[in-house]
Amino acid sequence: MLSRLHSADAAVADDKSTSRGATSEQPYSEILRRAGQFSESADRLAVGHLNPFEIVIEDVLGPVEAVIGGRRTVMFGTNSYLGLNFHPDCIKAAQQTVLHYGTGSTASRVASGNHAMHVALEREIASFYGCREAVIYSTGFMANLAAISGLAREKDAIFLDAHSHASIFDAARLSGAEVHAFAHNDPADVERLFRESKIAGTRTLVVLESVYSVWGDVGDLKSIAAVAKRHGALVVVDEAHGMGIYGKHGRGVVEHLGLEKEVDVIVGTFSKSVGVIGGFSVSNHAELRWLRMMARPYLYTASLPLSIVASARTALGIISGEPGLREKLWRNAEAFHAGLRAIGLDVCSAAGPVGSVRMQGVKTGHDFWKSLLSQGIYVNMLLPPATPNGEVLLRFSISAAHTPEHIDAALKAFRAAAQVAKAA
Ligand SMILES: Cc1ncc(COP(=O)(O)O)c(C=O)c1O
Repeated sequence: MLSRLHSADAAVADDKSTSRGATSEQPYSEILRRAGQFSESADRLAVGHLNPFEIVIEDVLGPVEAVIGGRRTVMFGTNSYLGLNFHPDCIKAAQQTVLHYGTGSTASRVASGNHAMHVALEREIASFYGCREAVIYSTGFMANLAAISGLAREKDAIFLDAHSHASIFDAARLSGAEVHAFAHNDPADVERLFRESKIAGTRTLVVLESVYSVWGDVGDLKSIAAVAKRHGALVVVDEAHGMGIYGKHGRGVVEHLGLEKEVDVIVGTFSKSVGVIGGFSVSNHAELRWLRMMARPYLYTASLPLSIVASARTALGIISGEPGLREKLWRNAEAFHAGLRAIGLDVCSAAGPVGSVRMQGVKTGHDFWKSLLSQGIYVNMLLPPATPNGEVLLRFSISAAHTPEHIDAALKAFRAAAQVAKAA
């Protein structure tokens, strides 16, 4: 069930051996051989700048426009849901701060990297969520590593959704707890795990995403949290793709569904709707005040640069104060989904700002992806094992910064690529 823990292994499943470097005196390293196979399988999809996994952005023209392969390209794979990475106030906050405080913090929070601005951002993110405790981390990936591995230990259990992000799988492994994946979005399977577990529910963490980052579907938080609570488990929800997008105040799906009392810890990132980098965990449990001291990914890494902190603080104010951005995002997402469905494409989920289109095999997917790029539209190409059920997917993310012309251009390109794929 934990296949997504070992993505590199799975990507090199075909066992073509490479004997480079072996000599009669020195046997060739199995570790290098495996790494070589991985490089080969990645290189197979590379055609100059058309390698989907090493795309080079030559210039950035705004939140959703860039130059790739010498041409102006509209980005449909950025996660800049609200376009705040180019908001003048966020840029100004970062500029002023970097001039005064320099470029980096150069130390961890527990050494000499804890600044009043870090503490202020923690206070503000706690207040944004209406929670008493907050901790910030250097990335969203580390927020999951820290919160999950900080809470669960050996002799505890972690139940996580089979479609979880790699950071959740890695966090679970790092914790040393017993880990079980449940079938995607399936409360009955969570119930089964509790029934079969030898570890008490009160020693169990149930980890969910509010919006699953590949298909873009919303987690069944209500039913799964209800099962978890019945067994006395703690519920952790990753709002990476929900924050700024769902809920009246942009807090996410937990707010949208009114589940603040059922969810024990919310984990999130500043790298998507907030437009910078960094992550956080918030909770109403006073016991979690010292989560920071229990979490190695907090303790042993440099703190966020203050220019990033300043920009994140400004962005939080915009997220809660300007609901019009969210409305624009949703209008764009609905128009884009409607267009994809009208073309007859197999879209994974209901309308939302992130989603994927299923492709029939790697070649079709790669041809489709190349066709879109040649028409000035960039989406993410995803291959197994990074995808659920071995699917080949073209993943898109919509932004409030997309104009109706961007959406039309993308739909036109999808239509042309679909016609070519049909004729092939
Ligand atoms: C669901 C989810 N959680 C966590 C992360 C990690 O966030 P970050 O990229 O900010 O480290 C991501 C990033 O894609 C994600 O999709």
